[in-house]
Amino acid sequence: MSKSVTNFACVNDYEDYARKHLPNMYFDYFFDGAGQGKTLEWNKTGFNKYRIRPKYMRPVTNRNLSTTILGKPVAFPIGISPTAYHKLAHKDGEPATAKAAQDLETIFILSSHSNSTFEEVSKVAPHGRKWLQLYIFQSREMTKDLVKLAEENGFEALVLTVDFTLFGIRRHLIRTEFIMPPYSKRLDCLWKKKAQLLTSLAFLSRYPSEQVKPIEYIHA
Ligand SMILES: Cc1cc2nc3c(=O)[nH]c(=O)nc-3n(C[C@H](O)[C@H](O)[C@H](O)COP(=O)(O)O)c2cc1C
Repeated sequence: MSKSVTNFACVNDYEDYARKHLPNMYFDYFFDGAGQGKTLEWNKTGFNKYRIRPKYMRPVTNRNLSTTILGKPVAFPIGISPTAYHKLAHKDGEPATAKAAQDLETIFILSSHSNSTFEEVSKVAPHGRKWLQLYIFQSREMTKDLVKLAEENGFEALVLTVDFTLFGIRRHLIRTEFIMPPYSKRLDCLWKKKAQLLTSLAFLSRYPSEQVKPIEYIHA
């Protein structure tokens, strides 16, 4: 009998399930790194140098991982980092991920390349803590609009991505000739001026250096 989500024991079980059920192209999108995959490997093996030190001879009946982040409570100090295109993995997309974060009482960070709008996410997870991952797009108007919309929909913080200056060379995606399915709109594509999108996608490194003041820009 194949395993069902209810008896998954660890994250690797989700990976195995996805490998069997997702089209190869989408599986590769989520699981492959760029180039030779070195950074991906280092990110994973980096955790091997940490060990959890058990505590003995002290009270352990009441264990509590809750803490505060930006002054508000979370049930444990791990949130959901921004990843693009959740609808490639499941039709319910980002709203479902946000709902899971709400249920677990932690933070959900919505990608600027989300397949769902702020409204869709907030409707399904009205009480969850939600942040927006933001690029500073060449169109400052679009950047500003996204921030405003996020705020109006209860998003409480911005996570500024500054290291996406160029698309990485994703070898599997080239080999499988990866294409987005037609339903897979992006949040920035859902922005009102779709026609401007292609000229809007220049990231920070493309700016003349004197203009690269993202933090000052966001504050303003
Ligand atoms: C499939 C995938 C999509 C991602 N999409 C985004 C994104 O849209 N915006 C962003 O800022 N970071 C994105 N990231 C980067 C992650 O948020 C995270 O910083 C990165 O994966 C490193 O953390 P890790 O070592 O725990 O995977 C993505 C990562 C993956 C694997």
